[in-house]
Amino acid sequence: MTDKELLEIARKARDRAYAPYSNYLVGCAVLADGVVYEGANVENVSFGAVICAERAAVSAAAYNGVRNIDTVALVTQSSPPVAPCGLCRQTIQEFATNPEKLRILIGNLEGEVIETTLAELLPRGFRKADLEDAT
Ligand code: THU
Repeated sequence: MTDKELLEIARKARDRAYAPYSNYLVGCAVLADGVVYEGANVENVSFGAVICAERAAVSAAAYNGVRNIDTVALVTQSSPPVAPCGLCRQTIQEFATNPEKLRILIGNLEGEVIETTLAELLPRGFRKADLEDAT
């Protein structure tokens, strides 16, 4: 699976978003052990109930047994491409054995791509190990 192929899956997932309130469609593809899990944002009239594309895709991966994500690809309509929101960064981290190795590809409809890592987007994130100190 190339980065280009993963981004293309995220771009297609974007077409399946339910975003009647913002009209901001986001598609996400999560790669783990060679398998791709997709998601798109799902909005709600009660705005706080909105589910981002990344959390939808990570939930699909986790449901299928994934505990370590290799790459997250994301496509939005923004130029320059925009990074996942804070809540999604924390959600991705739950399934990141090594945040410095978890790649995040941020793309848009024009084909612009920014490559980063979870460690770069979520420095000093709160981790499972931090909770273990309390138990
Ligand atoms: N959204 C995502 O799907 N991912 C993000 O990282 C940021 C925002 C969605 C949520 C909402 O449906 C729309 O974009 C506007 O905020």
